[in-house]
Order: sequence, then structure tokens, then C-alpha cells
Amino acid sequence: MKRHLILFAAILAFLLMIGGVTAQDGVLEIFSWWAGDEGPALEALIALYNMRYPDVEVINATVTGGAGVNFRAVLKTRMLGGNPPDSFQVHAGQELIGTWVIANRMQDLTWLYEQEGWFGVFPQGLIDQLSYEGRIYSVPVNIHRAGVLWYIPDQLAEWGVSVPTTLDEFYSVCADLQTRGITPLVIGEAWTVIHLWDQVALSVLGADGYDALWTGGLSPAGSEMIAVWDAFGRVLDCTNLHQNAAGLSWQQATDLLVAGDAAFNVMGDWVAGYLSTTLGLTPGEDYGWADFPGTEGVFTWLSDTFGLPVGVPNEAAAVEWLRLLGSLEGQNAFNPLKGSIPARVDAVEAVPELYNAYLQYTADEWAKDRLVGSMMHGVVANERFMGDFNQVLDIYIQSRSSAGAASAMEAVCIQAGACGY
Ligand code: GAL
Repeated sequence: MKRHLILFAAILAFLLMIGGVTAQDGVLEIFSWWAGDEGPALEALIALYNMRYPDVEVINATVTGGAGVNFRAVLKTRMLGGNPPDSFQVHAGQELIGTWVIANRMQDLTWLYEQEGWFGVFPQGLIDQLSYEGRIYSVPVNIHRAGVLWYIPDQLAEWGVSVPTTLDEFYSVCADLQTRGITPLVIGEAWTVIHLWDQVALSVLGADGYDALWTGGLSPAGSEMIAVWDAFGRVLDCTNLHQNAAGLSWQQATDLLVAGDAAFNVMGDWVAGYLSTTLGLTPGEDYGWADFPGTEGVFTWLSDTFGLPVGVPNEAAAVEWLRLLGSLEGQNAFNPLKGSIPARVDAVEAVPELYNAYLQYTADEWAKDRLVGSMMHGVVANERFMGDFNQVLDIYIQSRSSAGAASAMEAVCIQAGACGY
């Protein structure tokens, strides 16, 4: 047996030497929701991969739809049907761990972290969100910030409006703008409404309360949460919910902001990628940003990561893909275009000139702010919860009953095994 193994290893080494077989060839399927306007950063990374591994044919497979809302259904069918892509996009936290890792569908990548010396370069708090029972299951390509308040400074100046820093200030700016026929806050399809809910919850509960909601220290049906739903209703009344929201992608909602139809947009900083990379606008001049009212000093984070499912067709090529994602070069090719900051702590300082004013600002905030994980983008709640939370939102929008929504949310938490249940 041992002799056979030695012989096999010798033949393999010989074939590798003469170039008959390389460790990386064949087809590599990368699966994500970064299509169309969201594509340039991923394409830059794939171009880098193609340069390193010209014998691998990369299939950039995407399912359009912000925040992966359509992608996740397709992924689930493929994973459960025994047809996993070689590597797929998945958010750090519960979306990865509470969905795929606990179901034994992902391969342990701890060895890759050891090989690449990644323990020193990714923040430990982030590694914790990629880990289960001491093993690490994906590689983070970025850090995004959720819930940023975006605006166009020239428009606010023209309207004589200042950026609100508390919810009460926001309500009065809202009333003022509405009398003038301007939409105070533009929203889009359902997931962008959940994204907004996350920020209202954070604003009303504070960072400790928000954390406690997801870990079991604060009842989803309690009086604090009824106050969250009350505030959410007031904020929703400042939006285009009943006009055109349901038909707008996040990019289209952002377009309305740029066109001057709306004063603010609450969205993650993929908006910075869209405004700068796609529309060619300059941060700080053509567009501005601020913390969502009442959340100053708190950074709602999420991270796009890629993992290695069990039983993939081209594992060798997929491992090299993950190695590239985690490298300094990979992170600096991707993030300046994406509107995100690198997950590696050493990447911005290596080439600061790649990062525009918004990204420099965010990198500073990431280092000093209080961090909380985004619910909408998979950090603090599993996929089952995220899917079912849509129904809670519908119940609230139909009934406008805060108590009803709070108890519906509690039921969803229990069913999904989220919120500490
Ligand atoms: C997030 C994702 C971002 C961006 C955004 C909009 O969930 O983490 O990278 O793609 O959705 O689609």
C-alpha cells in the first residue's frame, strides 16, 4: 500500500514537472449576486486570477438581485441537490455558520489560514464570525458598512436642509420636505426596507440593546421592541413606500437620490461603489454621507466572504481562488472598486492612494467605532430568520400594529432559532 502511494506521488510529481498536469486547470465556477453594476470589483479579481492561472476557465456565475435575495434560493437548490458551485459568496456570521456550516456543507479552511499566515492580518472578531467549534470556514474579501445615510450636498444646500443627527431631527426635516413635495427618504424593494429597519432598531435600542436582541438578552416582543416598530412606522411615513418602492432596485433608488427626487437614502456602502465606480461621482463633493440618525459612533458591519463547499468539482482551483481573495493584492484589486474596505488590516496602509475619501473615512471608523453586526446581511441572524422576517414586515405594513409585529417577530425568532432562542 505504502509502495503504491510513493509510486503515485512520484508519477504525479513527474507529470507536474513536465506540465502534463497542473494543480490548477479545468473550469472554476464562482457563484455570487454581483451582476451588472455590482460586477466591476469581482471582475477585477477574476482578471487577476486569470493572470495567475491561465489554464483555468473561470465561470462568473451570477444571480441578479441586491443582497442576494434571489441568489440564495438558487444556491439552496444547488447545494441540496448535490451540485455545489466551486466557491460561493456568503456573508460572515450566521448566514455562513447557522446555515451551511452547521449542516456540514462547508470545508474547514483553518489549514489555509495557517499556511497564509492570516491569523495576524484579519481581525480576530471577524475570524470569530467565520468559525464554528474552533475551525474556520470561509475567506473574507471585504468589510461593508450598512445603514449609511447618503445625500447630495448641493441639493440639501438648495433646499436649506441640514443632515439630521437624531430621529426627532429627522422627523422634522421629513415634515418640512414633504410640504415641498420632496421624498425625504427613498427606499426600494423589500430587502432595502429591512435594511432600514435594522438602523431604526439600532437607533432606538442603542448598540447594547441591538446586540441583546440577537443574543437573547432583549425580548423581541417587549416594550423596547414596540418602540422600535413605532419609530419604524414614523420613518416609513417619510418614504416612497406606497408610491414606487417595490419596483426599485437599490441602484434605481439611488438614482432617484442623485436626480434630486429624494433627500436621503439609507443603504450600505456599495452605494459608494455605485456612485464612484459606475457613475463617476466624487465622494465628499458630489455625494455626502453620515451615520443614520441616533447611531453616531456605531458601525453596522457585514463581510462578503467565499467558502469551499463539500464535494466541489474543482477543489484545487477553488483553493487558489480563496488564496487570492485573502491576499493583499486581491483585496486591493477588489475593494477600491466595490466601495468596501479590505478585511485585511494591512491592506489600506499598503497602498492608501487606491482608497478615496469615503473609504479612508470608513477605514478609520472601522478601527475606532463600536461594531454591531447587520441582520439584513447575515451577521446576527440565520437565513431562515431573514426569510421569515419578510412576513413580519408585511404584517406590520398591512396592520400598522406595533404590538402585532413584535409578537410576530418573536414567533419567527423561535421558529428560526434566532434572537437567542
Ligand atoms: C450585500 C452585499 C454587498 C452588496 C449588497 C447589494 O448583501 O454584502 O456586497 O452586494 O448586498 O447587493
